[in-house]
Amino acid sequence: MYAKMSEEQGPRRGRSFDSVNPAYEEKQLNNEVTLSKFEEDQDNRSISTGRPTSSEKGVATIIFSLKNEIGGLVKALRFFQEKHVNLVHIESRKSKRRNSDFEIFVNCDTDHEQLKELTQLLRKHTDIVEITPFENSTLPDDDMDGVPWFPRKISDLDLSTNKVLTGSELGTDHPGFKDNMYLKRRKYFADLAMSYKLGDPILRIDYTTEEVRTWGVVFRELNKLYPSHACKEYLKNLPLLTKYCNYSEDNIPQLEDVSHFLKERSGFIIKPVAGYLSPRDFLAGLAFRVFHCTQYVRHSSKPLYTPEPDTCHELLGHVPLLAEPSFAQFSQEIGLASLGASEDAVHKLSTCYFFTVEFGLCKQDGQLRAYGAGLLSSVGELKRALSGKANILPFDPVVTSTQECLISTYQDVYFVSESFEEAKNKIREFAKTIWRPFTVRYDPYTQSVDVLKDTNSINSMVKDIRHELDIVEDALNRLNKHRRV
Ligand SMILES: [Fe+2]
Repeated sequence: MYAKMSEEQGPRRGRSFDSVNPAYEEKQLNNEVTLSKFEEDQDNRSISTGRPTSSEKGVATIIFSLKNEIGGLVKALRFFQEKHVNLVHIESRKSKRRNSDFEIFVNCDTDHEQLKELTQLLRKHTDIVEITPFENSTLPDDDMDGVPWFPRKISDLDLSTNKVLTGSELGTDHPGFKDNMYLKRRKYFADLAMSYKLGDPILRIDYTTEEVRTWGVVFRELNKLYPSHACKEYLKNLPLLTKYCNYSEDNIPQLEDVSHFLKERSGFIIKPVAGYLSPRDFLAGLAFRVFHCTQYVRHSSKPLYTPEPDTCHELLGHVPLLAEPSFAQFSQEIGLASLGASEDAVHKLSTCYFFTVEFGLCKQDGQLRAYGAGLLSSVGELKRALSGKANILPFDPVVTSTQECLISTYQDVYFVSESFEEAKNKIREFAKTIWRPFTVRYDPYTQSVDVLKDTNSINSMVKDIRHELDIVEDALNRLNKHRRV
């Protein structure tokens, strides 16, 4: 996935919705009771029971789709009542995805656990289009004032990653814009991704002959370039993917197999996604070693061009490098630095991501090689970046973070790193300049993020480090004894 769009570029939530007039909505959807009565009950209930308290709460946005049938809306709204979630605002619009459906836009005042439970319930009975937890909300702790909400544990990603900037609605300049069969296929993939939850097996796709043919063209042409253009880590891992994930010209690898492979190699796992995520959500996934991948194939009319990431880009561009532990660590560092960071800081980090993970170059044995997925999945740009004619600068996050990311043309400039280790250290130093009243540490045992902001949390980390040092000391002692024997 690219993570280059600003959050303003996607379809804005709720802009084209109509405020629900309860009486009108009642008539429109043939509901059995009025919405106003429901909300009155809802208010009374929340006053009498009180909302469960949590350290994370705010106004969340949910958009779900309903069939135009009797009682549908009332039934869905009862889930909010059941979970004691207060409705703040509700609107409806005719669905753009399915003519016979309506989309309901809801703002609700909730906390984190409530939202999770509500989401699970809604998923069973409705088609959730989008969830935005706690937009513009901040963490409530006194010393975390002004810090944007961020996921603390891996399952939290199921909330934020339904917020997709572009999904099945393609722009007029997309090669598949007028192809109804293609649009239908994209809708299928979008629905699959929207209903996916971390921990579920990723559905195996029965790709069509046309899709396999398109993948085959991309695979064949890029493989001609890799020996002379790709970095050595890429060249080391690609044959392993052939062996363990059935990468070949006539087979599109399955994300489920790739996810298992990556998990064993670097701890990364794959989560299917319907389209562009916001930079904040995308980078948050990296913090937990979760990589969001599209599963659809670009349009067959232009196999060597795609205006958006597709599964060819993910599988050929990203996956071989994600299997490399040093690269995985580098990617996670960017993600961790983004958690709770300001909009400006997230923009800078996503720009660094763009010019490294997507379009990065490195020097190996005195030669320039590509490690960026945007290059390794594009025949034209890969050739150009290493043609000797491209403008190339050393990777320096302070400079790189201000460079403009070009979406529809080749980049004006590429940035080169000596190694992933060097790039990681530079990002780590850069992250220290980003203002946050805390730092974070990833706990791989619980797949959660520890927030280090007081002496207790720091002491806890020191204990862990002491334990690790004990292991090192023990290992060294045993080594010395073994040598003396
Ligand atoms: Fe990408």
